[in-house]
Amino acid sequence: MKDQNERGLIVYSSKTGNTRKLAEGIRRVLEDSGFPARIAAVEEKPDPAGAPWVLVGFWADRGQADEKARDYIRSLEGRRLGLFGTLGAYPDSDHAKSLAKKTEALAAEKNSCLGSFLCQGKVDPALIERFKTLPPDNPHAMTEERRKRHEEAAKHPNEDDIAAAAAAFLKMIGGHESPAAP
Ligand SMILES: Cc1cc2nc3c(=O)[nH]c(=O)nc-3n(C[C@H](O)[C@H](O)[C@H](O)COP(=O)(O)O)c2cc1C
Repeated sequence: MKDQNERGLIVYSSKTGNTRKLAEGIRRVLEDSGFPARIAAVEEKPDPAGAPWVLVGFWADRGQADEKARDYIRSLEGRRLGLFGTLGAYPDSDHAKSLAKKTEALAAEKNSCLGSFLCQGKVDPALIERFKTLPPDNPHAMTEERRKRHEEAAKHPNEDDIAAAAAAFLKMIGGHESPAAP
């Protein structure tokens, strides 16, 4: 198949390294599965020309994809575009669903959006320290529920997240699960 000889493009925006780790893992698994890709940080503003598909990774920043990722998504046109993101909230939460919906809508404005994958990512310890100083009536104040969520987030992204993301994208870009199979 022609597509398998052309390299896709994986672009990530990452402040503290979680989304970069997920991006690098996705690239590794896709390559092992017969879908090679080049990878670049969003700051490099990679040119997507010639790539049969593009995946853009973002981190959640106040309820939406971070600004650099959004700017890059806005710069794309006519692409087969998949999205992945990391966030402090649980991926099955309403917060995560809203984040996915908004980012997919932005991607679909000028592209064919293939879908999105979200998983947790360790929250910056400096931000957690700031939450701890907030008065109890502040919506971001530290609670037991929030502490547990941060504790879980600190374990992500892990190899299971990478495998799940890569499996999702293999379906999206390959149309079937085992493109390398005879
Ligand atoms: C300034 C700031 C804002 C954030 N806003 C959100 C948010 O709205 N929702 C959320 O679930 N996580 C939020 N987070 C958590 C990050 O999205 C999460 O830790 C992510 O994995 C960071 O990715 P990175 O390491 O690639 O930068 C925020 C983190 C920071 C530092």
